[in-house]
Amino acid sequence: MKNFTFANPVKIIFGKGTIKEIAKEIPAEQRIMILYGGGSIKKNGVYDQVTKALEHHVWFEFSGIEANPHYETCREAVAAIRGHQVDFLLAVGGGSVIDAVKFIAAAARYEGDPWDFLTGKSRINRAMPFGTVLTLPATGSEMNKGFVISKAEIQEKLAANSPLTYPKFSILDPETTYTLPERQTANGIIDTFVHVTEQYLTFNNHALLQDYFAEAILKVLVEEGPRVFDHPADYNIRANLMWASTWGLNDWIGQGVTTDWATHMIGHELTAFFGIDHGQSLAIVLPGVMNVMRKEKEEKILQMGKNIFHLEKGTTDQRIDQTIASVENFFKSLGVKTKLSDYSVNEAGIQKVVNRFKERDWALGEHENITYGVVAEILGERK
Ligand code: NZQ
Ligand code: ZN
Repeated sequence: MKNFTFANPVKIIFGKGTIKEIAKEIPAEQRIMILYGGGSIKKNGVYDQVTKALEHHVWFEFSGIEANPHYETCREAVAAIRGHQVDFLLAVGGGSVIDAVKFIAAAARYEGDPWDFLTGKSRINRAMPFGTVLTLPATGSEMNKGFVISKAEIQEKLAANSPLTYPKFSILDPETTYTLPERQTANGIIDTFVHVTEQYLTFNNHALLQDYFAEAILKVLVEEGPRVFDHPADYNIRANLMWASTWGLNDWIGQGVTTDWATHMIGHELTAFFGIDHGQSLAIVLPGVMNVMRKEKEEKILQMGKNIFHLEKGTTDQRIDQTIASVENFFKSLGVKTKLSDYSVNEAGIQKVVNRFKERDWALGEHENITYGVVAEILGERK
């Protein structure tokens, strides 16, 4: 196990009827901007609960943050925040809204072009305080410091993070997730699954607690995930999925181990170029990564096959194939397609992604050996 130093300062308020707690978490004299997406919160009562809780605060609102949030929209939000002299931001929605608010919180306290944070040209030195009300379990953004922003103009989707972009608090009320469309529920389960594999499915780091914890999260997803579609308003299923997704990426299971993240980096390009949902992009890429990196990941693939999918028979290669098939079948059981051709991306499309990795000269994965040529192999048609 490698050395690590870690603190996660996010206060989690979990459970039924907890949205009203935001009133106690935000000082009474602070002027608040509520930020949200395309309006799902107005249809499912979350907006009403939030505004009721803030009836004794001064608040404003900014709506229209899109999925895979755009830099351009975030700049509009910054202008509104400055105009109203807001002190505190409240993100109400899924990962896109929360990520946008992290970026906005830093951008509102920066005089230059905040895209610099994404390209690494500038570091975040100041940020506004913010809290979140999560409505879509998937990204873990409610309990981490990362954010992913897209610049539509140049079809770029980049990630950044800062110790200053942790939420002050996050409200996790599983009842808010009853109204999720099946596609988003499935995306969230897959996103969580792949957050875990990015940190666990590498090589033996001799980090037993992290491994067993990772396997516990995967088990929750594999056992409860497929059941949620027949029981969308089952509190305990939703609660387990929500808490699992927070743990998938609150960075605990990534401590002391070498992590991968190649599936995410390749997936981000599929979203940037072709608008494929984040969860869908991961369902396409992960089986390819497992297949092409089967030698490097052998020990952990076999461990996952045994402990998650109960695969113990056959040769090493057969068990690896069975594990990859089990992962793919799990994604399919959630109604998500796993081949690029299912999303009408052809050879020319793949070449576009490969060229981008070539231009950036990126070498990804736990061994930093996934270069553009390997990306081409990963995205190539599987049998
Ligand atoms: O915009 P509204 O109307 O609210 O609708 C949203 C949106 O259309 C809808 N939705 C959310 N909660 C709902 C609901 N509909 C009905 N009932 C509810 N309770 O769902 C749609 C998708 O929402 P979005 O926030 O885009 O989804 P998700 O949470 O999957 O976030 C994806 C974004 O997070 C980034 C992704 O790249 C992507 O941009 N990620 C952020 C990470 C992080 N900060 O750590 C890590 C992840 O790997 C990921 O990259
Ligand atoms: Zn993700």
